[in-house]
Amino acid sequence: MNEARPEVTLAGLQAMKAAGEKIACLTAYDASFAARLAEAGVDVVLVGDSLGMVVQGQDSTLPVSLADMIYHARAVARAAGPMLRVVDMPHASYASVEQAVANARRLVEDGGAQMVKLEGGSEMLPVIRALLAAGIPVCGHLGLLPQSVRRLGGYRVQGREPEQAARIRADAEVLAEAGIGLLVLECIPAPLAAAISRDLAVPTIGIGAGADCDGQVLVLHDLLGITPGRRPRFVRDFLAGRDSVPAALTAYVRAVKAGDFPGPEEAYA
Ligand code: KIV
Repeated sequence: MNEARPEVTLAGLQAMKAAGEKIACLTAYDASFAARLAEAGVDVVLVGDSLGMVVQGQDSTLPVSLADMIYHARAVARAAGPMLRVVDMPHASYASVEQAVANARRLVEDGGAQMVKLEGGSEMLPVIRALLAAGIPVCGHLGLLPQSVRRLGGYRVQGREPEQAARIRADAEVLAEAGIGLLVLECIPAPLAAAISRDLAVPTIGIGAGADCDGQVLVLHDLLGITPGRRPRFVRDFLAGRDSVPAALTAYVRAVKAGDFPGPEEAYA
């Protein structure tokens, strides 16, 4: 269906932001699903460390190793077609600048990553600068940081208190200034995400961050309604009422592009 689509690039994503075209991003962890995402018109595929939970059955992303990420990233890369391939740096893989650069290189060279994602704000600046200097594009991740779930005391909305909101906003500014190419905003109030998206040139990708981000991302298994346990408010089951995985994926892309997902009831005030 979308075989003739040109490769999605960071410049292309910036152009989409400038034109007001929403970016559809989704996680994938294997080649079969990556191929279906590409056919559905997904722009950015994220090999997320959420694989620790939805593929490995762990209770957090913390046990995921670099070898796990490379294995799944390589599988996705074989079938990703024109989608931009972003791969998570797993917990404890970027504790020092040297370690971060060496591990990110492995994600690029062995895992086929075109961009790496890491969690954290201004404290990550030395690592981000070193990765960019090494020629490795970086996606930031602010708000709810799953790798810091123990410190945050659980999977909770971040940025509701003014001081916390100001910190997230300031972090977004310094990361953008440092040159990140994309910014994931997870579980923050929609007005805060809207302000960051409006004021910064870097394209923002929201998950539980409201409709005014420049794009949206969901965990694939959540979108298909097969993740065990309670469904978070920001998740929509796109397979419900549809008869196939491709139909669910196409519906997701259409809903993101049309600005119909997330709705107000799927966001935090
Ligand atoms: O690991 C992941 O899937 C992610 C998304 C939730 C953004 O980081």
